[in-house]
Amino acid sequence: MSELVLYIPAAHTPRLYPFVARAAKGLAKPVRERTVPRIRLSDLRCLDVRMHGSLERVRMPLVYPFIRTDAPNFDQAMPGPHLLTGPDWLVLGRNGYDLQRQLSAALEARARRGEETTLRVVPFAHMEGPLPQEPNEHDTAFVFRKGSENHNQPGWEQNKDRLLELPEEAWNEVGISNTADLVHVFDEALSRLAPESPRLILDVGCGLGQVTRSLALRYPGAEVVGIDASEEACAVAAKAFPLPNLSFKAVDFANPLPFSPGQADIIVSTNAVPYAADQLGFARELFTLLAPGGLLLNHCRAEESQHFWDFPKSLGLPTNVQIFLCDWFAAAQEAGLKTEVASVPVGMAAHFFAPSGSKAFATPLMDYADSRRHEPSLSYDPWFSHVLLAHSARARQAETAALPLEQNHLARLSRLLNSVLRAPAKMKEAAIVAWICTARELTLVPEVVEFFEAVLPESATVLRMVLGTTLGAV
Ligand SMILES: C[S@@+](CC[C@H](N)C(=O)[O-])C[C@H]1O[C@@H](n2cnc3c(N)ncnc32)[C@H](O)[C@@H]1O
Repeated sequence: MSELVLYIPAAHTPRLYPFVARAAKGLAKPVRERTVPRIRLSDLRCLDVRMHGSLERVRMPLVYPFIRTDAPNFDQAMPGPHLLTGPDWLVLGRNGYDLQRQLSAALEARARRGEETTLRVVPFAHMEGPLPQEPNEHDTAFVFRKGSENHNQPGWEQNKDRLLELPEEAWNEVGISNTADLVHVFDEALSRLAPESPRLILDVGCGLGQVTRSLALRYPGAEVVGIDASEEACAVAAKAFPLPNLSFKAVDFANPLPFSPGQADIIVSTNAVPYAADQLGFARELFTLLAPGGLLLNHCRAEESQHFWDFPKSLGLPTNVQIFLCDWFAAAQEAGLKTEVASVPVGMAAHFFAPSGSKAFATPLMDYADSRRHEPSLSYDPWFSHVLLAHSARARQAETAALPLEQNHLARLSRLLNSVLRAPAKMKEAAIVAWICTARELTLVPEVVEFFEAVLPESATVLRMVLGTTLGAV
């Protein structure tokens, strides 16, 4: 007989209990216990949530509705953490129908495994922290995996014949997106850190190859190779850009890259490396390909910015298309390279973060991005969506105090949330609107403020500001 314990704030138990009872019908007999005055989060049985192939992790009970696998770019075939036996559930959402769905799936999975479940519902008046992050042997492990869907591929497959005929300027006619010449993002770092007379340059995840082409023109003495999972994109790029020192190869990041260790003098990538399912492994592989004195430039969305914009969904870790800085720092260090971090306001793709396409969120963010489009790289700020990582023996090592990589997810999230207080007005406005919209979309209970104060105590002021407005609490 195993137990599933649902902790529900007492004020919401009368409304949510009927949904729990319906979910349990024929699967378990729910026992509604007396209200307890206080629960200690450190006593709850937790999930140890990790990202596949990453150093990133967070430890918490199954906090409904934060820990979910239905975010885009996660492996949708992966069974969710709610199907596991072990963690306690802390119910901080008030969508009864959704809770019922999740809970009945959980109980059905247990029944299929032949487990008999006792379902205990514990209403509580208050909760208190902290929530220790050290791994605990009683934790239930859960690993999020990135999905392997390539969002550009359907458009390229469908339009390959037309793209082969059209000149580059007309590619937009077939509605392709997500591929552009962003070579200027690399200008400053290339002029400062690139080895002289490079022989081999790789563009990893090159798409239709505009950046690759620009590099071939800039370095006529080098062999420049664009690699991408899409055979169609490689074929279009090869036809559009017939340069003697340029070629394209269809290669999936999941397979070993067809180059020898120490062969590449420069490796660049724009908005592609996050698609590698195993971030630490892929970082190690790319660093192995670098020649001594070589330079790797990676421009893409980073964990920090995404956690910032996606809050409070990002509390339970999953974000969709980003690299984890901890992995790239760790792999660079192993390879004897330094890591320099610059933010890149260009291409902040506000719409990507806009919850439900909220104009109030997207407009100030885009205005801000536009106003800074021509500025050179700025020093790293966690609210920017994109970073440029430069890895090289000659790079200026990022001040890790500004990027507390050794801290746990909750401590970093706290720091990120607080950074909104330093953000320029438009960014602050956009962030707060984004958080309010996401919190509303999650239909949180007002008691969630108490939970955040317990697990993210440093950012309590910011959270009260946002969640107080959203939930009518405080
Ligand atoms: C957002 S596009 C960026 C393309 C290009 N670098 C640019 O900036 O225009 C992401 C690219 O990553 C490629 N990609 C995604 N998953 C991949 C994988 N598993 N292996 C290789 N390439 C992949 C896609 O085909 C696509 O070209």
